[in-house]
Parts: sequence; structure tokens; C-alpha cells
Amino acid sequence: MQGKFITFEGIDGAGKSTHIGFVTDYLTSRGKQIVSSREPGGTPLGEKLRDLLLHEKMHLETEALLMFASRREHIAQVIAPNLAAGKWVLSDRFTDASFAYQSGGRGLPRAKMEALEAWVHPELQPDLTLLFDVPLEVARQRLDATRTLDKFEREQADFFAKCRAEYLRRAEQFPERFVVVDSTRSIADIQASLAQVLEKLL
Ligand code: ADP
Ligand code: TYD
Repeated sequence: MQGKFITFEGIDGAGKSTHIGFVTDYLTSRGKQIVSSREPGGTPLGEKLRDLLLHEKMHLETEALLMFASRREHIAQVIAPNLAAGKWVLSDRFTDASFAYQSGGRGLPRAKMEALEAWVHPELQPDLTLLFDVPLEVARQRLDATRTLDKFEREQADFFAKCRAEYLRRAEQFPERFVVVDSTRSIADIQASLAQVLEKLL
């Protein structure tokens, strides 16, 4: 039996990485075999592309193409074979992030993104996309408190406002797979909601 594909999305600092471990433990305790991965990255070549993407300045279209190059490799080597083997694949970001950051944030026409998506994964879509949503100020405070910022995280507030708006637009467009998680709540409250969402998928 085919496994399920769950993606984690949200602007930087929304709290997505915090909950991946919880979801992994929850599903493992329910007998699922979990493969946890991330984009950009997830394969040896993808991790090299990630390093370039997070640290080098480049043309907007180069950035979009490299995101999808990393994704193509990730689907071929990790996502598709593991789903086919019945494992559940959790990915820290997937194509919704390209819509949010490269189209929403940077302004690449959405039609170009749709063309890349149709080329690289015409069939595959997540079974569940958890969108961790917080106001920009909350995300920024959480980021500033914790880490050295990469190329994307150093962007200004209006960039993240546009990313967030595009994420929320995608959630409205695809209500069958998106769950928007109010990530201003406590970690314990969020995990209680996540457990309810996951139960429906089991
Ligand atoms: P992301 O992966 O979305 O960029 P993280 O999960 O790394 O964000 O969270 C950023 C910071 O905010 C971390 O220090 C984390 O502990 C903290 N954090 C995450 N969720 C919450 C929450 N619900 N309440 C308070 N702090 C949180
Ligand atoms: P992420 O792994 O969430 O960063 P961190 O490890 O710091 O939490 O994502 C790396 C960055 O890449 C993030 O700022 C969003 C960006 N990104 C895009 O711009 N487009 C994409 O398609 C993807 C997958 C990520």
C-alpha cells in the first residue's frame, strides 16, 4: 500500500521545524514508517543546491529553477520510492514554498511556477500540507531570538507579507489538502490540534 506524503510550510520563524519531530513520533507510535526530509535538499545533490540557494545571490529565475532541480532529485530518489514502499514521507517544505517565496515574495509570474510544477510533478501532490501561520512580527521575533539568518531570512517585512499572503491563497485554492495551523498558540496546544488532524489521515 502506498504511503502518505505530508508537507510542512510557513514563513521563516513560524514554527514548522519545531513540530516535525512531534509528527514523526506520533505517526511512529501509530505503526507508520517515517522518512523525514527537507527542501531545498533531501539528497546529496539537493543539499549542494541548498547551500548555493541559501547563500549566493542569483537571478530570480535561476533561484526558481534550482529549487525545482533540487525537487526533481528529491522526488526521484526519496519521495516516490518511499511512498511506493508504503512509508510516510514528511517534507520540511515542497512546491507551495516556491509559490510563496519565488512567486509571492520575489514576484516570479505564477504561470511560470505552474509550468514548472506541471513539468516536474504533474501527478504528485501532498496528502496533507500543514501551513504554520503567524503574523510577521511573531515570526521575526522568534527568528531573531534563535539563529544566524540566511539569505531568505534576511529579507524585509514586505517580502514575508507577500509570502504569507501567497501561502494563504494556496490554502484557499486547495482546501482538500491544506490545514492552516494558528501557530501563535502554545506548542502544546498546536500539538493537540496536530494529533486530531493526523488521526483523520490514519
Ligand atoms: P521554522 O522552522 O518555521 O522557521 P522553528 O520551528 O525553527 O521555525 O521556530 C522558530 C523559533 O520559535 C524556535 O526557537 C522555536 O522554539 C520557537 N517556537 C516555535 N513555535 C513556537 C510557539 N508555538 N510558541 C513559542 N515559540 C515557538
Ligand atoms: P528552511 O529549511 O525552512 O530554512 P531553515 O532550515 O532555516 O528553517 O528553508 C530554507 C529557505 O528556502 C526558506 O527561507 C524558504 C526558502 N525556499 C524557497 O524560497 N523556495 C522553495 O521552493 C523552498 C523549498 C524553500
